[in-house]
Amino acid sequence: MNAPSNVAPVITASNDSLTKDFPLRPFAIKHKLSGHPLLTLPRIAQLAAQMPRDLIEYNSGDASVSQDPDKVKSVDLDPVAVVKSIESAGAWMVLKRVEKMPEYRVLLEDVLTSVARARGFRSCVDAGFSQIEGFLFVSSPNSTTPFHMDAEDNFFVQIHGEKFFTVYDNRDGGIADEAQVEHSITKHRNVKFDDSFKPRATEFHMFENDGCYIPYLWPHWVRTAGSYSISLAITWKTKEVSRRNDLHFFNSMLRGAGLPQAAPGKNPALDGVKLALWRSARAVIEPLRASETMRRIIRRIALGKNANYYLKNT
Ligand SMILES: [Fe+2]
Repeated sequence: MNAPSNVAPVITASNDSLTKDFPLRPFAIKHKLSGHPLLTLPRIAQLAAQMPRDLIEYNSGDASVSQDPDKVKSVDLDPVAVVKSIESAGAWMVLKRVEKMPEYRVLLEDVLTSVARARGFRSCVDAGFSQIEGFLFVSSPNSTTPFHMDAEDNFFVQIHGEKFFTVYDNRDGGIADEAQVEHSITKHRNVKFDDSFKPRATEFHMFENDGCYIPYLWPHWVRTAGSYSISLAITWKTKEVSRRNDLHFFNSMLRGAGLPQAAPGKNPALDGVKLALWRSARAVIEPLRASETMRRIIRRIALGKNANYYLKNT
């Protein structure tokens, strides 16, 4: 890891949430990233031109909270044009894995190093922040990100515009059971929404310099208000999160082969065997993923014919 260029607190939280609630419960944060030169529209347009096409996903911002992923409306513009016209394009876009770009990687590591220090650790490694990744969101006014869950922990920072971020407590499986969790991790992130979930909600109303911490697998949906929005998700995976994700992937593959599987944790000895097998297989496949063509083929094999749904016009 590069030496951090700045370890002054970038993210702060009131009521000792960084030590009391982290990493188990969502909470509001403040940050100092709005106006950062890597997070402006012109720089993001440049980034969209540089990034491999399969790391950019975009569609109409006119989506429902409970959105069927097969019925998402598309936007007939190229990625750079979407960013440049975001105030009027009626679009939602995510640039995935921006940590592949060295300047963005330094930014993400600086932020998480400041969190690690605030929590009494020397570094991201000591704090358990592994697999650091960044997802940069650009969306038009009045856009909706459908209800979904993400298989990582996340500091979500609002850089520009007004956003409502509503997160739901699923710790008892009352929103998404183990089968739905596996589906979200391995197939598509979206989850069906029902009004009965509302008592489980916490809403964060954010402007620039606001943000929130979203724990692993807490379902959420997001909407922008009357201005265009830029946001950054700063994510990582602890060892335990990687372990659970890997087990879900392996279980999903076995289930696809007609072999029903117990959820992770139900049979720890068998989990250990599955993990070893899965990680050996992945070590063979992983180097192939450097190629965009191979990534598309691997997604197609792992996820089925709709795996590359967001690339259908490319
Ligand atoms: Fe999300």
